[in-house]
Amino acid sequence: MKKIVILISGRGSNMEAIVRAAIPGASIAAVISNKPGAAGLAFAREHGIPTSVVSHADFASREAFDDALANEIDQYSPDLIVLAGFMRVLGDDFVRRYEGRMMNIHPSLLPSFPGLHTHRKALEAGVRLHGATVHFVTPTLDCGPIIAQAATMVADDDTEASLAARILELEHVMYPQAVRWFVEERLVVAGNRVQLRGVATQHRGWIVPQPEA
Ligand code: GAR
Repeated sequence: MKKIVILISGRGSNMEAIVRAAIPGASIAAVISNKPGAAGLAFAREHGIPTSVVSHADFASREAFDDALANEIDQYSPDLIVLAGFMRVLGDDFVRRYEGRMMNIHPSLLPSFPGLHTHRKALEAGVRLHGATVHFVTPTLDCGPIIAQAATMVADDDTEASLAARILELEHVMYPQAVRWFVEERLVVAGNRVQLRGVATQHRGWIVPQPEA
């Protein structure tokens, strides 16, 4: 059984999608938030998942917060840490500690539009394709080997809200699938590329890793 700790900061709809996917061979060991009021904590509790809060506001430095968060995570000895709308930048030491076993979802087709306000930036740039990316976390923000990307066309009348809603739907399909591949030990990282062991499923509207040669 692979143990997963999910980190959230707010609504937690991606966490919810992963929990609801009930991935065989995986157990959600805990959901941890850096914000006491994160709405997603209630869903986790209702589903019998241990929750805790490590509030960044309680720590004087990023390092102190990172250490406290790592202590909390390590209690569960997780195989995988899933960042699901976790909105704190994590320090290099923290990231290296979990290298190869920490994933993030970001609402853009990386490397376009790292950081915040990705839908606004996509509209300002006039791109015709926009989407979301699941990637392994490395010290540089919103970088790291890409596991999967989901794309949607940008229409003339799209707004930040309409793009966010459409892309979130894609996220809810793509993220559980990426976690499932990790649990099945099918993801092979080769430099900055991620390959998928075995037969790749074709998905409409999103891009999966290439099967291993
Ligand atoms: C999602 O759209 C996720 O891609 C984004 O925040 C939202 C969280 O929603 N993540 C980031 O911007 C990370 N930089 P959720 O809490 O309902 O899963």
